[in-house]
Amino acid sequence: MRARRLTLIFAAFAITTAVAVTAFSLLRSLIEPPARSGVAQVGGPFQLINHLGQPVSEADFKGRHMLVYFGYTFCPDVCPIELQTMSEALDQLGEAAQSVKPILITIDPERDTPEVLAAYREHFHPSLVALTGTVEQVRQAAKAFRVYYARTDDSADYFMDHSSFVYLMDPQGRYLTHFRPATSPEEMAKRIRAAL
Ligand code: NI
Repeated sequence: MRARRLTLIFAAFAITTAVAVTAFSLLRSLIEPPARSGVAQVGGPFQLINHLGQPVSEADFKGRHMLVYFGYTFCPDVCPIELQTMSEALDQLGEAAQSVKPILITIDPERDTPEVLAAYREHFHPSLVALTGTVEQVRQAAKAFRVYYARTDDSADYFMDHSSFVYLMDPQGRYLTHFRPATSPEEMAKRIRAAL
């Protein structure tokens, strides 16, 4: 009798655990891109405009790793912190940073013109490229990288809600890994170095 009750308790525990683990991984897949898998599911072709006003596509970055972040220049907190982290990580990589291209893609193309981006990028790593485009071009790029963004309101000084991951892509433009918000520059540099 006692053994049977224990068996039931263990079975109930195992089922509860399995359900919880499944629910957690489902939830996680909704908010975060997948860990590296055989096929690239993050990234892809994009057509955008750089901070010099020139058209660029993913093909222009082939041959170097891309360190990609989607954000916007009016962001009061998260974006500048993440861009600063990318900049410090590249500084820590030293010579190896030459094979990594840091890229900011705006999710606010209506305000982030090439001129605005050109001024903004001056605050960060000298090799940072800042990209904008038409609303549709930006939408396509964000979709390829599974980036969520939305305008918060209709006022003139609106904010943008957006996901905030830094993506590391290989020299063929394929997804390697991503960094969660608030990753330290040391951690980012270490993991980039390991991936080069
Ligand atoms: Ni932001």
